[in-house]
Amino acid sequence: MNEIGYSEILKFHSLISFCFTYQSTEPVHHMEIKKDQTPLIFDKIYESYDQMNHIISLGLDKRWRKKFVKLLKNRDYDVVIDLASGTGDLLVELAALNAKHYYAIDPSVKMLTLAETKFYCADFINASAESMPFNNNSVDLITISFGIRNFPDMKKAFDEMYRILNNNGIVSIMEFSIPEFFLFRWGFLIYLKAIIPLLVTIFRKNKQAYKYLQESILDFGRNIKVTELLEESGFIITKKKKLTLGVVSIYSCKKINNN
Ligand SMILES: C[S@@+](CC[C@H](N)C(=O)[O-])C[C@H]1O[C@@H](n2cnc3c(N)ncnc32)[C@H](O)[C@@H]1O
Repeated sequence: MNEIGYSEILKFHSLISFCFTYQSTEPVHHMEIKKDQTPLIFDKIYESYDQMNHIISLGLDKRWRKKFVKLLKNRDYDVVIDLASGTGDLLVELAALNAKHYYAIDPSVKMLTLAETKFYCADFINASAESMPFNNNSVDLITISFGIRNFPDMKKAFDEMYRILNNNGIVSIMEFSIPEFFLFRWGFLIYLKAIIPLLVTIFRKNKQAYKYLQESILDFGRNIKVTELLEESGFIITKKKKLTLGVVSIYSCKKINNN
């Protein structure tokens, strides 16, 4: 058997053992790319971000965003912030809520530049979740889709959201998660570790950026206790919902002002 044959078998073996040994409770995975560099990564891939999003998610990302917004339709909102707005695909769906003011916040200037071409009725703010230029108790709803796992200091971001939200204000978060049922989990891990890199090679996209995508999903699924952090910041979790076999989770939370 030639060298390529051996290296393929080794890769396959390490993939299968990774799937078998993956435990959501073991914080053994270390990210090579630091999260404070993420706005720079998104600045590099902004032009192909939407296209690759649709390819990698097999077109499901559009459906996930629609479902996410549908869950928010049960009340009226004056001020809505789409945080980590990126190229604004969620912002476009949020128009269905008929809020009075929309803001899109993101530290990546280039991602926001694209968002501005899709939605004219919002203010676009170049800022990070950890420090947002809003007064205390001035916002009704904050949405975050596929952004939370990039925040370098998630607790600080939740404290900041708590500060700017009105009493009874809502944070709704949609993020990738690792399915609990072992067969779905293995399928998802194989997709992340083997199929996505293949798609990135076929479409000749930035390998480092998509390695970051893979690592940040695994890191978030394994190490981040998002509901505990939200509760520590003062939120109560009102709903948790899983989509597409648990590949995506939605967390809805409310600010309850104890003062
Ligand atoms: C995967 S994109 C998600 C974009 C969009 N919400 C969507 O549904 O496609 C993640 C976004 O998070 C942004 N981001 C990274 N660090 C952030 C931070 N500290 N605060 C706010 N946004 C951040 C990135 O610039 C990027 O645009």
